[in-house]
Amino acid sequence: MAKKIIVTGGAGFIGSSIVNPLCADNDVLIIDNLHTGSMENVKESMKLGAKFHRGEAGDIAVTHFDPDLVFHLGMFSSTPMYREDNSLVTRVVGDAINIFKFASERNTPVVFASSSSLYNGYQPPHHEGLVPLAKDFYTEARFAVERLANVYSEQHGLNATALRLFAVYGPRDEKKGKYANLVTQFMKSIENGESPLVYGNGNQTRDFTYVDDVVRAFNMATSLKGFNVLNVGRGESFTINEMINKLNEHLGKDVEAKYMPNPIVNYVDHTEADTTKAEKVLGFKAKYSLDEGIDKLWEYLTAPTSH
Ligand SMILES: NC(=O)c1ccc[n+]([C@@H]2O[C@H](COP(=O)([O-])OP(=O)(O)OC[C@H]3O[C@@H](n4cnc5c(N)ncnc54)[C@H](O)[C@@H]3O)[C@@H](O)[C@H]2O)c1
Repeated sequence: MAKKIIVTGGAGFIGSSIVNPLCADNDVLIIDNLHTGSMENVKESMKLGAKFHRGEAGDIAVTHFDPDLVFHLGMFSSTPMYREDNSLVTRVVGDAINIFKFASERNTPVVFASSSSLYNGYQPPHHEGLVPLAKDFYTEARFAVERLANVYSEQHGLNATALRLFAVYGPRDEKKGKYANLVTQFMKSIENGESPLVYGNGNQTRDFTYVDDVVRAFNMATSLKGFNVLNVGRGESFTINEMINKLNEHLGKDVEAKYMPNPIVNYVDHTEADTTKAEKVLGFKAKYSLDEGIDKLWEYLTAPTSH
């Protein structure tokens, strides 16, 4: 049966990947301030009748849309943004309170984006039982949103699930420019014969996750009850150097990386999801290997219609 669904951040990379397949059969409202998102990402959805509210995620109550379901991804999406403007933490937390309050009053489930950055400081594999060490403003904001969801769940019966996403890449990520995942950024540089610029020695590891797997996890998590935190990753990590080698192989190139001292304080050295809980609670397991994801992204970037 058709549902009424709000997707905050629905004009962004992951948000649009959630919105686009839903629009044919559901009544979808996108709320997005277009900070990094764009209408181009959702032009097909708009043709299919998706509605759009340009504004902050916390505007949810003023849209007069009564949803069966909320996907909340409309949060400033990258660590450097918070370093430049610490007050973004306040905005993210304020928006989350508005959304959780609104959803609690209607008994509407919320599935929202959280981050593997919460595991910064721990050796992988990372499981949900680890207590986040919150080493920067971005992580502090994300941890606060998770804890608020828990409070709303305990005090007001909200059904809310935090999905801790691991290094997501895929179509439309390239629109994020310098904020895009390194798989996407480096694919572009290698294609152009330019050296990918690597911080440190390239031995840092990432659990690269293809966006279609993330979309599937969001949809699967809508039926969970109470408050939940789940990892959404492939459960397999590669060094940045290994990822560059794979890109070179796939593109038939031999472009060498350039290395520079890492300028980032509290840099995340390693991420790898322990996927046990998501498999048990949700029956979710990522399908796409890094090789398969690279193939799909390359197919998209080289298709005549993708840009
Ligand atoms: N891409 C990843 O690897 C990754 C990893 C962990 C967590 N996440 C989280 O997943 C979510 C989606 O990320 P993405 O990769 O699609 O990034 P993105 O920047 O493409 O998407 C974020 C979207 O939210 C919008 N937005 C930002 N602040 C907003 C606000 N206050 N109100 C309304 N809209 C707002 C942006 O314009 C954009 O369309 C973000 O919350 C991000 O932090 C992403």
